[in-house]
Order: sequence, then structure tokens, then C-alpha cells
Amino acid sequence: MSLKIEHLTKKFGDFTALNDVSLEIRDGEFLAILGPSGCGKTTLLRIIGGFEAPTEGTVKSGDELLSSSDFNVPVEKRNLGMVFQSFALWPHMTVREHVEFPLDSKRCTMTPAEKKEAADKAIEAVGLSTMEKRYPGELSGGQKQRVALARAIVAKPSILLMDEPLSALDAELKISMRREIQNIHKMTGATIIYVTHDQSEALSMADRILIMKNGKIEQLDTPQQVYCNPQTEFAATFVSKCNLVRGKWEENRFIAGDNLDVYENASASREFILKGLCPVRPEEFEIRQEEGRGLPGTIMNRQYNGREIHYTVKSGNNLYTVYTGQDQVYPEGEMIYLRKKANDYGVKTAS
Ligand SMILES: Nc1ncnc2c1ncn2[C@@H]1O[C@H](COP(=O)(O)OP(=O)(O)O)[C@@H](O)[C@H]1O
Ligand SMILES: [Mg+2]
Repeated sequence: MSLKIEHLTKKFGDFTALNDVSLEIRDGEFLAILGPSGCGKTTLLRIIGGFEAPTEGTVKSGDELLSSSDFNVPVEKRNLGMVFQSFALWPHMTVREHVEFPLDSKRCTMTPAEKKEAADKAIEAVGLSTMEKRYPGELSGGQKQRVALARAIVAKPSILLMDEPLSALDAELKISMRREIQNIHKMTGATIIYVTHDQSEALSMADRILIMKNGKIEQLDTPQQVYCNPQTEFAATFVSKCNLVRGKWEENRFIAGDNLDVYENASASREFILKGLCPVRPEEFEIRQEEGRGLPGTIMNRQYNGREIHYTVKSGNNLYTVYTGQDQVYPEGEMIYLRKKANDYGVKTAS
């Protein structure tokens, strides 16, 4: 199902949690809503789901109005599945009973055989077929979250709303559950709206990322565009590590520092041009020892990371983060020059 969100504003008393948010979500799309705690992600998701009414603005599906300040299609009529951070399982119900539960409502028109088949498929999809008689107390955290996923998809919703579903899991499990969620997206074809404050989750799974700050949209783009062409300082630094080099823009060249380096064929958004900043990802820098063009600096810290080495370089009053290949070993205290490599993310527009 596609959704059109127009001029959504949500106020709690004097506080504006969402401020004039407009976007369209495509049918079958995996959209991640990304932003720091308190920026309005859950509020937006709850309004999309019909759990909360907007103060102003509308949510539509095609031309059909779903939500406005004085109209609301009830949650149970919206054909959606929800997965939360807390697994919200009942201790007295088995895996299978949890998954069958959404099918037991009066509105579900499936025959008993169809219900069984739907539950079988959902349980199989999350890899719990051998555990369907277990109770939540007999499951690990990851397995509980799988039950919550199976329960969310069993009624074949056209929209799946997920609010930080992996944040209670440990690091390794998070990564494997990402694959699980991607598979569910492929298998069900449902539109997924996935709230997270974890940029790597958003980058790795989403078709597009909606970056939010203080109730407003900062950027809505594909992961590649968000990474390679951040539109705002916040988008650049929140989504991943990003250096902001001070200097001056002249058309499509950037004069770094006090004429220390020139980045040819560079581009950046209006915000960066107005602020006299150029966003440079850590792997876009290279470290040079010979004197010449580049930001002069001192290696302050080196961290071996297996595939890469991460350096902290001090240049003037600024600290820069640089990722190099593992063969480029410079000792702490070494005086070096930081150059921007010729391949410039800013001019790559292919997504
Ligand atoms: N029911 C509520 N009453 C008052 N303030 C609320 C309510 N729900 C959320 N807020 C406030 O709105 C802001 C956004 O909340 P939320 O959407 O939960 O943020 P996020 O999910 O991005 O962490 C927060 O400052 C929060 O305190
Ligand atoms: Mg939240």
C-alpha cells in the first residue's frame, strides 16, 4: 500500500513533536525513519498506524483519507502489522498460539485450514517450526522477537510498522535479524516503515531513509544518496562519521582552509555552500607524508580495525577522522598532510 503524508503536525500541549512533515511512501517500499531519541519517529509511526491523531495534516492511501485531526480509520481496519522493541508476548501462550492470535478475531474470514496454513508459513518464515509448542519463558531474546515478527506478518498485512524492533537484542543477533527482516520484506512484499536510531540498520536495509531532527525532515533519500550527498550538516554527521572541512566554495571547486588544498569537481548542498563547509567521509581522505597541498596535521591516534586503520588527525584546532588501508601505518605524533582523494562522492549521482 502506498501512503501520502501531507503537512503532518503533532502538538502535545505547547510542544511540537512533528512539524509540517510531508512525504510519500511507495507501495512495497522499505522506508527507515532515522533520527535521535525524541525527534518524533514513534509519533510519526503512531499517526501512520492510526494509533494517534495528528493536530494538523493528513495521511492518505491513494485518494482515501486515513487520518486527519477529526477523522480516523480505526487501526483494525488498516491491514497493518506492528512489531515493537519490547516483544510483548503473553507468558501463558505458546509460539503457535501467539502467531494464530491475530487470525482469531471475528473480522478474519479465513477458514480453519487457511488459518493453519498461514500460521505454518509465518512460523516457518522466522525459523521457529521446531519450537512452536514452546512458551516465551523457553525462548531466547532473538527467538521472542521472531515470534513477534511472525505474529505481525501472519495476517498478510500490506503495511508493517516496526518501532526499533532490534534495539533490545545483542550486537550479533541484531545483524542476523536484519537479514531476517529483509527476507520478510522480500517474501511478503509489504510496505515496511521501520523506525530506528541506528544509522547502520537504516543504511543496510532500507530502500529510502527519512532523516528526522526536532520533528522535521532533514533529508529523504536512498542510503547511497544520504551517504554520498548529505543535504545538511546534521544528515552528514548523524548517518555516519563525516569530516566537515572549512573553506570557500567557488562554483564546483572547494578551496579548503586558507588555500591549503583545492577539491576539484566537488559539489555540495546549499546548506554546505552557505556555511563554507565541505563534507568529507573518512575514507575520502588520504594521508601523505611529502610536503605540498593538503591540510597539515599530526597523527593523534591510530586504531587497527582489521580491514582498515582509523586515524585521528589534528589540524589547527580541528580533529579529522581518516580511514586508510591496513598497509598505511603512520606512528602517533607523525606530521602529515590530509588530501581529499580524486573520486568525489559529491559528483556521483547514480543511486
Ligand atoms: N503523549 C505524549 N505527551 C507529551 N509528549 C509526548 C508524548 N509522546 C511523545 N511526546 C514527546 O514528543 C517528542 C517525540 O517523541 P517520540 O516520537 O516518542 O520520539 P522518538 O520516537 O523519535 O524518540 C518527545 O520529546 C516526547 O517526549
Ligand atoms: Mg521512539
